[in-house]
Amino acid sequence: MTDNDRLRVAVIIGSTRVGRFGPVPARWIAAHARGRGDLDVDMVDLADAGLPTVMGGDDESEPLPEPVAALGTRLAAADAFIVVTPVYNRGYPASLKNAVDWYFEEWSAKPVGFVSYGGAGGGLQAVEQLRNVFNEVHAHTVRSAVAFSDFPDRFDAQGRPTDAEGADAAAKELLDQLSWWALALKEARGRRPFTV
Ligand SMILES: Cc1cc2nc3c(=O)[nH]c(=O)nc-3n(C[C@H](O)[C@H](O)[C@H](O)COP(=O)(O)O)c2cc1C
Repeated sequence: MTDNDRLRVAVIIGSTRVGRFGPVPARWIAAHARGRGDLDVDMVDLADAGLPTVMGGDDESEPLPEPVAALGTRLAAADAFIVVTPVYNRGYPASLKNAVDWYFEEWSAKPVGFVSYGGAGGGLQAVEQLRNVFNEVHAHTVRSAVAFSDFPDRFDAQGRPTDAEGADAAAKELLDQLSWWALALKEARGRRPFTV
């Protein structure tokens, strides 16, 4: 592997709630990604990003708010994304929709993988909705996702999944697919900018 083949993945913590659980699965999948050797990880915590929830008008000469520009630089530098999401009322958190909506090209022609958590459904209702949302910004969502159902019982006090074998296998499947698509789409963007 050359340095050119190394891929940058942004792990996005989608929940911003006080006392949230999101950083636990985010740190877990980030450790897996780092451990592979082909991925560099940027941990994006939307709780720290400071994105406004009120957007500006249509005047494109207006500068972007500083937090939007700052996060945009990080997203633009990523070759792939892993979105870590809970389920809120059968959907995904508003913080995540706000983050998707501030950007467009930053997501385009790049793969997105999901780690979700929730009650019996493991947050998959949120993931299915997010697949539609990311499709609109020309992102490719990878098929395999990691879902933790009844999640408080699925992690120990150190933030490790209690079913380490099953969780590790699911992480590998997700990351294998994500890295295949990330390299394929990076090469494609290098040959021909995505402008369609
Ligand atoms: C507003 C809200 C709505 C929720 N709705 C659901 C739901 O529909 N299904 C479910 O399984 N869990 C639901 N939960 C439980 C969350 O999955 C759980 O609280 C989880 O910890 C939220 O992620 P967070 O801690 O990272 O914010 C909801 C939690 C909140 C705060």
